[in-house]
Amino acid sequence: MFEKLFAGGDTNSLTMDAPHPASLLDSGVQGVISRPIDRVEGPLKVSGTATYAAEYRLDDMVHGVLVGAKIGHGTVESIDCDAVKLMPGVIDVVIDFDTFIRNSQQGGETNAPTQGVKEVDYFGQIVAIVLADSFENARAAAQALPIHYTKKDGHYAFEEHRDEAEPCQDSQVQGYYKQGDVDKALAEAPVTLDVTYVTPSQNSAAMEPHASIAVWNDDALTLYGSYQMPTSDAEQLAKSLGVPKDKVRIISRYIGGGFGSKLGIAPESVAAAIASRRLGRPVKAVMARQQVFDATVRRSNTEQRVRFAAGTDGRLTAVAHNSLTSNLPEETYFEPVGICTHFLYSGENRSITHDQVTLNILLSGSMRAPGEAVGMVGLECAMDELAETLGMDPIELRKVNDPDRDPEQDVPFSSRQLSRSLEEGAKMFGWDQRNRTPGSRREGEWLIGIGVSSAARSNMLQQSSAKVEIHPDGSATVSSAMTDIGTGSYTIMAQIASEILGIPVERITMSLGDTNDPPAAGSGGSWGAASAGSAVYLACERLREKLAAAMDVDVDVLTLKDGMAIGDNRQKAISDLVGEGMQALGEIKPGKNEKLHRQASYGAHFAEVGVNAVTGEVRVRRMLGVFAAGRILNAKTARSQCLGGMTFGIGCALTEDLIHDQRTGKLVNRDLAEYHVPVNADVPQLDVHFLDERDIHANPIHAKGIGELGICGAAPAIVNAVYNACGVRVREMPITCDKLL
Ligand code: MOS
Repeated sequence: MFEKLFAGGDTNSLTMDAPHPASLLDSGVQGVISRPIDRVEGPLKVSGTATYAAEYRLDDMVHGVLVGAKIGHGTVESIDCDAVKLMPGVIDVVIDFDTFIRNSQQGGETNAPTQGVKEVDYFGQIVAIVLADSFENARAAAQALPIHYTKKDGHYAFEEHRDEAEPCQDSQVQGYYKQGDVDKALAEAPVTLDVTYVTPSQNSAAMEPHASIAVWNDDALTLYGSYQMPTSDAEQLAKSLGVPKDKVRIISRYIGGGFGSKLGIAPESVAAAIASRRLGRPVKAVMARQQVFDATVRRSNTEQRVRFAAGTDGRLTAVAHNSLTSNLPEETYFEPVGICTHFLYSGENRSITHDQVTLNILLSGSMRAPGEAVGMVGLECAMDELAETLGMDPIELRKVNDPDRDPEQDVPFSSRQLSRSLEEGAKMFGWDQRNRTPGSRREGEWLIGIGVSSAARSNMLQQSSAKVEIHPDGSATVSSAMTDIGTGSYTIMAQIASEILGIPVERITMSLGDTNDPPAAGSGGSWGAASAGSAVYLACERLREKLAAAMDVDVDVLTLKDGMAIGDNRQKAISDLVGEGMQALGEIKPGKNEKLHRQASYGAHFAEVGVNAVTGEVRVRRMLGVFAAGRILNAKTARSQCLGGMTFGIGCALTEDLIHDQRTGKLVNRDLAEYHVPVNADVPQLDVHFLDERDIHANPIHAKGIGELGICGAAPAIVNAVYNACGVRVREMPITCDKLL
């Protein structure tokens, strides 16, 4: 994906084979890095002038509406296209089973997105696109389109098929890990725990539905879409269309949330591209909210058995986290439930396994913090239960088991402030006021409780590049096929360039989300800021060297501030040094360093809830998240990321539950009225506190991932608070009233 990098151009490339102790961001001369400045693209968004995928207006545009299958498993025998072709405004009906996809989640080269011939694997799977002169006409015809099926038996109910689970295989995530002898440790330990937690399927429920506008120019496709990783999405789209990858350009300037659902291409992009190629006109396809639920991606349901063996001092001797998840036939992706169990707590005997049940319900794939978000429900609630069994404080239990080195691989942590997060959070939240006896604090009808959880999320670096140009007037442009999915990438990348180049943020123009710009890994896995941000850093580092050369001073004595270059008792305007303009490319690549340390972001969640003793209603009263994620690049956008994650945690603990009809696999609650994400009334005062940290092993900007950290552990803190409030231990999410009464 990186051959598009300018061959032989002025590229500053760094492979992280070793730590990178010094950072140009340390000096803080410009004073902009880490500051809570407002989003640079904010005015465009609030004034409605930021153009989202569905909002581009192209001449001669055709409207497409997708049609989903109305059986859960079987074969499409025929589609009676002629029956709707005479309806008002209808232009065409396109059926292309070889290329309509059931969606491929991982992007890139894996999971070739072909569906096979006429087979329907799940209810709602896209089988056609109806094209008309208006959206309304296309929708009317799509609803009227006669489709004839032969039904087959399907696997729809997890419970019925759970015993047929198969071990998970994936090249990227470890599915099976065993160390020592868990059974023996359990048999010999003075204290043990064996509990099973269940979480339901969930939907990312991004505000903006998936949307694409496709337009061909000869043999080259431009797709205006809403995608998190345009560089690999373009490759994936090219592959499914059977065209060379340099013939597909994706433009995703603004994205109304993704949370994993837009990591890989979704059916609307393929359908729009095929239809547009056939008609020779631009085609727009916007998924209805119900289609986003039916036919993009879900987070798998999980069943997690957690077993601990511990001494009476709380020290763990065995940790077992064995999970079951579900996905479509032949899919290799699985929710990596035990991902942080590998490194969060000590214990010499370990078993972390994943098995998968094959079901004919929507593809499961990544949703915000795949693995930790739901895996920590099992792990962290079980820790709370173990603390109760031991008669020990839950924070103390976690601190006793906070290891100095990775408990599986013999490597140190790159940086880790788990215990400190717990300690600081305990002080800030008033942990000492927690009643040790559940159900003992009551205010009228309300039972009040406090809960805690650790937070942890693996840190990743992905190959990414960016171009930075300084123009003759002293302004600059930063461009990269990185995206801003609402997270703040535009802002933090401008801050990095501003800080290093001494050019005010207002004078930096950002270009993101276009595959014509230098390739980047995009927004996923919380690697975006660190990866694309490092690429900007490296481009700016090279520009600094060039400016020093142009001024004829040693780069080590050069200071760049407010548009001026200062060094060697001389000072010059940057605009006077760049001539016709100066540009450089930066490129970061993961390297050996990754294997020398365990890298993750850490923190602690605290929650206070009220449980109504009469109705069983749970209200979250306040939450605090304390996080350490390396350098915080912008205190405001970072905080917002954490608030969003914590809000997801409320949904996971209390409201979110995708329900599939056990007879057909049809999704029952397929809109935001029926699938309950937390709304304002459900979200109380949330506080976020960052610990100061730099991670020299992670990347040259010393930042670690933060986009997903806020969700990791938020739900179990609430679940543990519910137990503390009322003494009822609910092990099946979400905690609805019926489970407490
Ligand atoms: Mo994330 S689930 O990698 O958008």
